[in-house]
Amino acid sequence: MKSFLKFKLLNIAWPILFLGLVFSSCSSPKYPDRDNKDEDYYVVPQPARLNPGTGAFLLSDDVAIQAGDFQKEAAFLRDYAKSDFQKDIKDFEDGKAISFALNSSLGEEAYELKVTPEEINIEGGSAKGIFYAVQSLRQLMLVEDGDLIVPAVEISDTPRFAYRGTHLDVARHFFEVDEVKSYLDILALHKINTFHWHLTEDQGWRIEIKQYPKLTEIGAYRNGTIVGHKPGTSNDNERTGGFYTQEQVKDIVAYAGERHITVIPEIELPGHSSAAIAAYPYLSCFPEEKTEVPNDMMSETSKEQQAEGRNKIVQETWGIFDDVYCAGKDSTFTFLQNVLDEVIPLFPSEYVHIGGDECPKANWERCPECQQRMAQEGLKDEHELQSYFIQRMEKYINSKGKKIIGWDEILEGGLAPNATVMSWRGEEGGIEAAKQGHDVIMTPTDYCYFDYYQAQDKEEEPLAIGGYLPVEKVYSYEPLPEELTSEQHEYILGTQANLWTEYIPDMEKLEYMLLPRLAALAEVGWTKNTEKDWEGFKNRLSALRATYDELGLNYATHVFNKDE
Ligand code: ACM
Ligand code: ZN
Repeated sequence: MKSFLKFKLLNIAWPILFLGLVFSSCSSPKYPDRDNKDEDYYVVPQPARLNPGTGAFLLSDDVAIQAGDFQKEAAFLRDYAKSDFQKDIKDFEDGKAISFALNSSLGEEAYELKVTPEEINIEGGSAKGIFYAVQSLRQLMLVEDGDLIVPAVEISDTPRFAYRGTHLDVARHFFEVDEVKSYLDILALHKINTFHWHLTEDQGWRIEIKQYPKLTEIGAYRNGTIVGHKPGTSNDNERTGGFYTQEQVKDIVAYAGERHITVIPEIELPGHSSAAIAAYPYLSCFPEEKTEVPNDMMSETSKEQQAEGRNKIVQETWGIFDDVYCAGKDSTFTFLQNVLDEVIPLFPSEYVHIGGDECPKANWERCPECQQRMAQEGLKDEHELQSYFIQRMEKYINSKGKKIIGWDEILEGGLAPNATVMSWRGEEGGIEAAKQGHDVIMTPTDYCYFDYYQAQDKEEEPLAIGGYLPVEKVYSYEPLPEELTSEQHEYILGTQANLWTEYIPDMEKLEYMLLPRLAALAEVGWTKNTEKDWEGFKNRLSALRATYDELGLNYATHVFNKDE
């Protein structure tokens, strides 16, 4: 339109407009009557409402994207046409239109997508809704006779749950910035809106903290890793690790934000803290005690370092370790508060995940300072000491305007007043938390742990932590427990896949463990359970698989090979 006005000023608009009319009347839709088939409408997760139409829109060279305020979303559409189909959408100014518009009557994540042979109209409740419409459009694109087309359709869509998460442990194995970004691209394809970034562990501390440089100088690297499944056959004696600078963290958070994904950082406490303790031994109840790597699996370098007087090392095997943050010393809390002072400004998320799982109490039981704390605070056992620890940190985090999420162990000894519970040891923790009026995210191991095997015959599978979680079982998950009332169901914010990386050293394996199980959980999180349909899902997954192939993603094929 801008160029039209310019021509008008030059007083030559009429001949041009006339030519334009002649031109557009010549360029009638190329696919007005295309007989669309069921498989032309395979979208994962299944939209709330989808009505097939007749004919198809041709994404020809003369397509114009009228994106208004949604230029970023338009750029994604172009990127997807290029990455999935090697097609350039050139954006011809007065050509056939794809238009994006805000519709404030829709929910934030909702959208309407109308495709006719003449045009594509997208309306979203916000940029987020428009982004999801673009994801659906991406899955509807197909190539016919060398043309990129979209079958006519009307979709009206909105997610079932507000929280649709995927977690990644970058501590057991480190993933580079570009790898995390490609992980985020996969989440975006599945309309996942939350990335839970597990940044600290026994085996590595992954985020730069300027006030505590040893966290990354020492804590981000381990001298070796056990070989094979725990307890392992030996130690590989290879130094490994890495960390994200604060600038890199900002870059990743911005990259996620463009894809409408919120990043929740996890700074784990009070357990799983060996890497921080290796960097700053005073954080332990017993700084003078040597770190133990069970089953005699310690690397040669660490043995030498301990012989030379360094007691604490970054863990080299997997599991749960007694050496945790001392709950008795105020210096522990000062350290954690200072760390959070640097972490919180990097993440726009309203939540900070503080871990809280798998914290053995053995050291606290024999630590004079922890015992003194218990006496002073009138705490009857070490579970109450853990609760004290979490509540003290919650108070601090709340004072910074953020809310905490913790694994379901934070129920033990009394729940922190404003905490959201991530239920992982089954659903019991989530049920109890909802009964107490706390928000819950459901991530039970049986349905949501993507570090589990994907076949019953483990011999035929790459090494995994254990268990058995096929796609069908993920798909069968219902996050709203029957034990809760409909009022209590309101506390269940949604669900999340967890990807722990003890046995996932690289992207190829990561993709294999993630896909296509993520597609199943994405549908659990997005689609109304009355609309869920395993057979239909399997059909639709075959189309998503073509996108995986186009993107060069690695994925498990069991679900495609089975007949039933
Ligand atoms: C967990 O899997 N330890 C939360
Ligand atoms: Zn202590």
